Amino acid sequence: MERVATITLNPAIDSACEAEQVSATDKIRTFAERYDPGGGGLNVARVLHRFGVPVEAIYLSGGPTGALLDELLDEAGLPRRAIPIADHTRMSLAVYERSTGHEYRFIPEGPDVAEDEWRALLGACFASPAEWVVASGSLPRGVPQDFFARLAAPLAAQGRKLVLDTSGAALKAALDAGGLYLVKPSIGEFEAWAGSRFASHQDVARAAGELVASGKARMVAVTMGAEGGVLAHPGGAEIHRGTGVVARSTTGAGDSFVAGMVHGLLLGESPRDAFHRGIAAGTAAVLHPGTGLCHPQDLERLLAEIDWD
Ligand SMILES: Nc1ncnc2c1ncn2[C@@H]1O[C@H](COP(=O)(O)OP(=O)(O)OP(=O)(O)O)[C@@H](O)[C@H]1O
Ligand SMILES: [Mg+2]
Repeated sequence: MERVATITLNPAIDSACEAEQVSATDKIRTFAERYDPGGGGLNVARVLHRFGVPVEAIYLSGGPTGALLDELLDEAGLPRRAIPIADHTRMSLAVYERSTGHEYRFIPEGPDVAEDEWRALLGACFASPAEWVVASGSLPRGVPQDFFARLAAPLAAQGRKLVLDTSGAALKAALDAGGLYLVKPSIGEFEAWAGSRFASHQDVARAAGELVASGKARMVAVTMGAEGGVLAHPGGAEIHRGTGVVARSTTGAGDSFVAGMVHGLLLGESPRDAFHRGIAAGTAAVLHPGTGLCHPQDLERLLAEIDWD
């Protein structure tokens, strides 16, 4: 099977806990603390690793929090390459309020990255032997908005495939540059890029199809949360209107989708079947509360159960 390298510029230690009630001034006692590696590319790598795909996570890591992140990834047995930075890796916090069922999520902006540091990550990516590169997540301060755009042309020249899941200016710069194999915006990210709202799955499919026709990306998957998603590819468009499952936590749904779809493509599936594997993986991720991501046994069950017509 071909190999995958994932790229994460702004990873995190995701801490999660529960409290009876969140209120100002009082000490808030918390329970059931847990710490997981987080950040788009690391999540994709963790899921691919569970599927048995040969994967290496390449990421920026710094300070004592970076050392803890490295250790958490080792505990998960994930092959990894940390590029050291001077500033500290961020720690996010999610507090589940038992009395209301609300979840409060605090997401730090993360470190300030120096030019030699992000250039070292670019170099590690070009030096990696993996045929596929999956770049996912936001860019921390100090990294130019065209970072992913700088990856695309050299990777294509090396005959390697770039899969991109990002948003905002970084997404726009990458789409302007072109050379993407697969790009996966969520509907909000896609509408922000297009500068317009889409009224139906067909409208999304039309806009995604135009992007494929322009040659900027070979495939465009727009995920639409509970509403499923759309895939535009050289052979046409696929639409899925959602599975109707009740979501317990949507954390990591997009990352699980990317891992599922990339796994399908690695298995040699058609774009349509690989897209369905992505939808099943995204759905598997929302079945359980917390940051558990997609489990292979849930994915296989959903692939068989979901009505794909
Ligand atoms: N509430 C939900 N109910 C059922 N399935 C969901 C739900 N949310 C997500 N999914 C599944 O996960 C996939 C990806 O989710 P989504 O479109 O929310 O992407 P995302 O990248 O997590 O979103 P964003 O980046 O905007 O937070 C969906 O296509 C769908 O299969
Ligand atoms: Mg996303």
